Amino acid sequence: MRKGILIIMTAMLLLGADACGKAEEGNEPGVSDSMGTENIGTENTGTQSTGTESKGTQSTGTESKGTQSTGTESTGTQSTGTESTEVLQTQEGQEGSSEMEENSTENVPEENNALAVGLAELYKENFSIGIALPNYVFSHMEEYEKVILDNFNSITCENEMKPDSLLDKQASQADLENTYLHAAVHFDNCMPAIEFAVKHNMKIRFHTLVWYSQTPKWFFTEDYTDNGALVSRETMLARMENYIADVLGYFKENYPGLIYAVDVVNEAFDKGNGDENGVRMKDNRWYDTVGADFYYHAFVFARKYASQDMKLFYNDYGCMDKTELILGHLKQAKEEGLIDGIGMQSHLSINDDIRFKFMLAAKEFCEQGYEVQATELDIGVKESDKGAFRTQGSKYKSFFRVMRDLQEDGCPITNITVWGLNDALSWRKNEFALMFDENMEPKPAYLGAMMDDSVWDE
Ligand code: GLA
Repeated sequence: MRKGILIIMTAMLLLGADACGKAEEGNEPGVSDSMGTENIGTENTGTQSTGTESKGTQSTGTESKGTQSTGTESTGTQSTGTESTEVLQTQEGQEGSSEMEENSTENVPEENNALAVGLAELYKENFSIGIALPNYVFSHMEEYEKVILDNFNSITCENEMKPDSLLDKQASQADLENTYLHAAVHFDNCMPAIEFAVKHNMKIRFHTLVWYSQTPKWFFTEDYTDNGALVSRETMLARMENYIADVLGYFKENYPGLIYAVDVVNEAFDKGNGDENGVRMKDNRWYDTVGADFYYHAFVFARKYASQDMKLFYNDYGCMDKTELILGHLKQAKEEGLIDGIGMQSHLSINDDIRFKFMLAAKEFCEQGYEVQATELDIGVKESDKGAFRTQGSKYKSFFRVMRDLQEDGCPITNITVWGLNDALSWRKNEFALMFDENMEPKPAYLGAMMDDSVWDE
């Protein structure tokens, strides 16, 4: 009986993935300038192309490798946080619980226990598991809460802790004499995330303090208007310091222990859009006002105002291709004890070489003394079909395996955060890059992350 149920469950999980219809077109990334507008997680800078995190050339022909298990045992015994599995779980609970106890786990290969728990539980000895959430999710929690609580113990605000969410234009303009060096901030937009995290005993990754994007132009001008002249280096450094002091101070004072990691600087190095040393210049008002060393000063101020339990991170995409560029630029801050870790965004595609190229980059950062977190994981595919989702599942499996193995070998890998809850909420909705489909059904990607045998090894 139990086996029958499990077969159905496996089939449903996989069918669920197939049933994931192509998400709506449109809603292309665009620069967010608004404060307090609810979004469904598609707001972004639009400057970074997707699926090009690395130029990995490894073929995606993973299907021939490894053997596919029947998955009849591995679909496990408990909730994956979806309705279909819940139904089955109930049946099993009624009819199979004593059998389960009798059988214990003796004959089940180690990894088949995976689905007995969610992601956070599975990797609790290794690292925390995070999820990026937009405010939309907090106002529709009935649809999402179970999956979130079953699988994640860390939250990143997808947009609501970025400068364009925290800076208060009106209040800054209204009192220019007092705000000229010290722009006003408010925390209204990120309150839903804070309250949810506090209520459920989850931690928050703060994202992000200093970034060329999603930081309003008025913050850099003489009169806090969009068309004003840019201020001097000294003025902007003072504004940077006060902003960092206010933001970190707010959390230190009101929510001690809540923030465990802070993306102090996001995406500062980019050869294609940078100066002769690869420091991002394009559309970067930090560069225009402060200069090429703007990122260094951000770390100086962050260290000054952060509490000891807030780890300070540099966060970037394409880390596989610019490992040395990043390490070179961070050297001074590192030597001065101003930085703790590197966030590898991990916006990947199924063509990326995770097992070697990504792994080597993560290892290199660790060996250079950095804590490493995968801060924005998603793995895009071109089409929403069964074959692509299978390959995607294998890639997710490789990703979690690589990170777990490195961690077990002593690398300080401390978090993996998935950048969004389901394909329809993703900024890459045309690439179906996440672990759950639009109906919150787990895709093979989820099973892969759970190390389930039904997902082929690369
Ligand atoms: C970058 C940023 C994220 C997010 C994504 C796109 O990776 O770090 O905050 O904006 O782009 O959603």
